[in-house]
Order: sequence, then structure tokens, then C-alpha cells
Amino acid sequence: MTAPDSTTASDPVHILIGVAWPYASGPRHLGHVAGPNVPADIFARYHRMAGSRVLMVSGSDMHGTPILLNAERHGVPPAEFAHGIHRGFVEVFDKLGMSYDLYTETTTANHARVTQDVFLRLLDRGYLFRDTTQAMYDPQAGRFLPDRYVEGTCPHCGYADARGDQCDNCQRTLDPTDLINPRSKLSGATPEIRDTTHFFLDLPKFAEPLLEWIEANKDHWRPNVAAFTQNWIREGLKPRAITRDIDWGVPIPLPGFEDKRIYVWFDAVIGYLSASIDWAESNGTPGAWKDWWEVAPDGSPPGRSYYFIGKDNIPFHAIIWPAMLLGYGGLALPYDVPASEFLTLGGEKLSSSRAYTARLPWLHEFLALFDADPLRYFLTINGPENRDTEFSWSEYQRRNNDELVATYGNAVHRLLRFIQARCDGVVPDGGALETPDRKMLAAADGAFDGVAAQLEACHFREALRLTMELAHALNRYLDDAEPWKRMKVDPQRAATALWVALQVVSALRVLTAPFLPFSAQRLHGYLGDEGTVASLGWRRPELPARRTLPPPEPLFRKLDDDEMEELLARLEAPDG
Ligand code: MF3
Ligand code: ZN
Repeated sequence: MTAPDSTTASDPVHILIGVAWPYASGPRHLGHVAGPNVPADIFARYHRMAGSRVLMVSGSDMHGTPILLNAERHGVPPAEFAHGIHRGFVEVFDKLGMSYDLYTETTTANHARVTQDVFLRLLDRGYLFRDTTQAMYDPQAGRFLPDRYVEGTCPHCGYADARGDQCDNCQRTLDPTDLINPRSKLSGATPEIRDTTHFFLDLPKFAEPLLEWIEANKDHWRPNVAAFTQNWIREGLKPRAITRDIDWGVPIPLPGFEDKRIYVWFDAVIGYLSASIDWAESNGTPGAWKDWWEVAPDGSPPGRSYYFIGKDNIPFHAIIWPAMLLGYGGLALPYDVPASEFLTLGGEKLSSSRAYTARLPWLHEFLALFDADPLRYFLTINGPENRDTEFSWSEYQRRNNDELVATYGNAVHRLLRFIQARCDGVVPDGGALETPDRKMLAAADGAFDGVAAQLEACHFREALRLTMELAHALNRYLDDAEPWKRMKVDPQRAATALWVALQVVSALRVLTAPFLPFSAQRLHGYLGDEGTVASLGWRRPELPARRTLPPPEPLFRKLDDDEMEELLARLEAPDG
């Protein structure tokens, strides 16, 4: 590979955003997107507006045993099964407002080529070795058992239902042969141990450079991610098998291994790289991916790469993928791995009568009934950013009604309606500003730096809280200035207040755009602007006096108890 062109101070920052690749095994529920997707998209939208060059990639994780077995159960080939799920993901992520630069999947020829290239390079550099090992074979089912189809007791923490790939209790990754009292999930039989030859990633060789890398980066990591990763490495890394006895996956590019495949986790993490290459080629700029990946000869990275994942994916993104990148050489390691906690199902009664406790809703059924922006709002302000969080319908309803509708939506709507009704839809002249006016505008201007600082630190909840604080301040300003009343007695003071309030709304369309892209774009239209709100950049755009505004619609919809009941009844109905 060649060195990147020398950069100058005015070059934009390159931000690579990897979003965890969902298994194409079945639909996603709210918990799946609360973690990786919504924060990643907020981050991407903000950085684009702030002038960074963003590349946000992800795709469907098509390989692995659960998908193979689900396909077998449905009587269709695995590729067909996975593509059906993949198409559903594409649709639902679009509805959610995910602004991927590329959302692909792992059965493409490009992905296989890049995966095999990484495999061969690691082999060539001595980071992969071949070993004959023992694997679990289910004598009743007549097949080798994939890791997660062996269950047993975790050797580290004693949890009785650990899976062969990972313990859900202590999160450690496992080999199925580590399990105490193993049993087959397919038949319940005690698995037999048979010999089989596989390739192993020589993880112990990376322990020191990994610890150095974490030490150099951990100050901007979430403390739990850094601590988890450091402990895991200090406890001792073991070589990990990266091939499997299965016929669904990326083929091993060596003779004699035709009936085995590369392990799903090994190929999935390579997806970030292969998707970047795919994006560059489809864009007609085949080398452009290097702007986000290629390390300069002096070792300095080309920008920053962020991997948005759920906490169960930490070992793969903070240890195994960085080890693979170190082994490959010349490619940038993660700058941050902002892993989120879990969204769990809350058992609760809805405000009025009936219980809704069955399960977390699927994303597609949720988005068929509710809008994307309120969901993005809820998952950010009340999501699992720092701790496991229970999903609650009544909390969803309350946040929607009291915060989005009552605080932000109503401030904007009563102002825009007043302009229509009492000013013929025309933005008044600002006139002479007084202290409260200047303070209000200063708060709007100041919000941009404050929100930006929180977003850049991946503090999404706090960033949204600061944004909503400006909406609160706008309400207070309007309550004090009362342009509606003053219109008759002091029209110039009223005009000034309206002008100032409109400038704050103009700021809010920009500030909310990363979080609430759909309503921000509509508000952009209500302020009489064409094009996209994203193209305004990260600053307060001045709304010119005397512009005529089109009639507005409310930005958000109140959800009253009856409607909630009805929507939840439809969710519970068997056909969703
Ligand atoms: N498919 C995995 C899961 O859903 C995540 C893979 S992330 C990747 O847990 F980076 F490896 F692709
Ligand atoms: Zn355990």
C-alpha cells in the first residue's frame, strides 16, 4: 500500500463510523438499535454538519450457524433466507433514518476477497497457525456442533447455561471444550469429542501492543469498556480458532479446506474494511477508502475510527479486531469503541388499564405505528448509554407528550402559527435588541459548542439534554416577552421578540438535526428554506426579516391514553 497524500491543516477530519453488523437471523427489536444504531447515526449526522468527512458503514452479518439452522428449518437455502432478512433490515433502517454511506452484507464477492486477503496476510506474517484440535460432535444429529450449540457450565464464573462461544453472565468468550458438563442444544445429547484441523489466530502475540494501544486511548473511552478490555487481556489471551466445520461462510483460500469455512466473527469484523473498499469502488474512487484507514509511515492515523456496538460485542471490537489490524499492518486501530449497555424489557402496567409485558417490540412493527423521531428521541434521552435500561411504554408516552410535544413542538408551533395569523406569515424586522433578547440569542449560539463537545465525546444523552434546554429557554423567553399580548400595545417590542424567537427556532432545526432528522428537515421547510437542513453546517443560520413563511404543521403528535391502548393492542395482535 502507498502512503496517503500529505495533508494540510485545512483538510477535514476523517471520521470512520462502524456500526455493529446485525445477524440476518431474524428481525431486530428496539434493544438492537438502541445500542449501536441510533447513537452512531447521531454521531455521523453531527460530524457531517460540522464539516468532517464521514464514512459510516455497516451491513448484515449473513454467516454463522443460527442463520444456517433457521434457513434449514424454513426449508430454504441459507443465502436466500439471509437475503430476505437483509432486505427487511435495509427497509427498517431507512425508516429509522440511518444515514449509512454504505449498508451492505457479508455474502458479496468483495467481502470474500477482502476476508481472504486478510486471512492470507495474517498467515503469511505468522499470526495464524494450523492445529488439530478436538471439537464437539453431536452423535445423534450427526454433525459437528457450532460453538453456540453447545451449552454447559462456565469455567470462569460457574454460570450453568453458558454457550460454547461466550458466557452471557461474565461476557468472557469461550471455546466449547472449556465448558463443564457440555450438552448439545440440538439434541440434548452429550457431545463426542472428535479431531479436526483448524486455523488459529495467535492472540497472545498481540497482548503487549494491545495493552499499549488501550493505555494510549483509554482516557477517551467509556471507563467500563477500558476496564473490561484491560482485565480480559491481563487474564491472558489464548489462540482462537477462526475456521469451522460448516459449509456456510467465506471459503478458506487454501487447498484441503474445501469442507470448512472461515468463522463468522472473523469475517464479520473485516466487514468494516471490506465495506469501506466497496463504498470507494462503487463511488468511482477506488483508493478513497485509504483516507479513513491507512496509517502514515510515521505511524499517525488518517483520522479517527469509532465502532458503535452493544456491550456483548466488546471482545471482538476491542481485542480481536484490533489484533487482526495490528497483524495486517498499516491500518488504523479503533480510536474509540463506544459500547452501550442493554435495553431490557420492562414489566409494567400502562397508565390506564391493560398490561403490556410480552416482549420488546420489533423495530418494523414499532415504526409501522410510531414515528422515527420520537423513537430516536426516547432511545437517546432514556436509552442504555451508560447502564442497562428498562423499556417502558408509559415512559415513552410521557417523554413524547411532555418533552417533544409540550416543550419543543409547542414552542415552535405556537410561534409559527402566530406569524401566520398575525403577521401574514412574514418574518418581522428585529429592531433594537435589549438585554433579554441578546441573552436569548447568546444561549442559542452557545448551544452549538456545548452540544458539539458532548457529541464528540459520545455523550449523546447529555447532548440531547442541552439541546432541549434551549427549547426550554425559548419557552421561558416567550412567556416573559409575551409577543401575543404586546402586539397591540408595543408592536415594535413584539416584533423584536418574534424575530429573536424565530432565530432560536432556526438554531433548533440545526441542533436537533442529528437527533431528529425528519422533524428538523420539516422545520427547515417551515422556515422557508429549500435543500437539506444538513447542508447548513453546524451554526445558527440567520432567518432573514421579511421572508414569507409557508403554513406550518405540528412537528410531533401527542399520544393520548386511548391511542396508546389502541396501538398496543395492534402490536399484540398475532399479525402485528
Ligand atoms: N452479528 C453480531 C451480533 O449481532 C455483530 C457483529 S459486529 C461485526 O452480535 F463487526 F462483527 F460485524
Ligand atoms: Zn461466565
